[in-house]
Amino acid sequence: MSPTVVRHSKQIVEEHKRLRESLSRIQSMVVKPPEASRRSGWLKDLAAELTDLEPRLKAHFEAEEKSGFFDDITESWPGTSDICRRMMGEHESLLKAVSDVCGTAAGPATLDETSFRSLLERAGLLIRDVSRHVERENDLMFRTLEGGPAAQD
Ligand SMILES: [Fe+2]
Ligand SMILES: [Fe+2]
Repeated sequence: MSPTVVRHSKQIVEEHKRLRESLSRIQSMVVKPPEASRRSGWLKDLAAELTDLEPRLKAHFEAEEKSGFFDDITESWPGTSDICRRMMGEHESLLKAVSDVCGTAAGPATLDETSFRSLLERAGLLIRDVSRHVERENDLMFRTLEGGPAAQD
């Protein structure tokens, strides 16, 4: 077990759990969109969820990058340097996507059908991409905690 990765893991696992809870709430809204006449309240609720998620996601990514979490993984398991770089690269694009979807949801209270469909699609992709990021990171962290390369299979 890697003692340096252990010191980050508890907090990261806890934050991932809370992020997943937010994503799950957002997903349940997106899979059951309201009829046109009830969209403005729904957009307000979606904007509130995303406005809550955005700063937490930003703080989480910053903590991962600045705490040395990825450096510790790479140090414990040198073969992971490429994937760690990719994971850090995803932070920027995921934050941009949250901000983009949040901006639309918090925008005009009425959206035409095309804009509304586009919002649903982008929100769905955002949920998928953040969820995948969190899953891959958990997997990387747990494998490193279990001993790294020897535990790959
Ligand atoms: Fe991350
Ligand atoms: Fe993370």
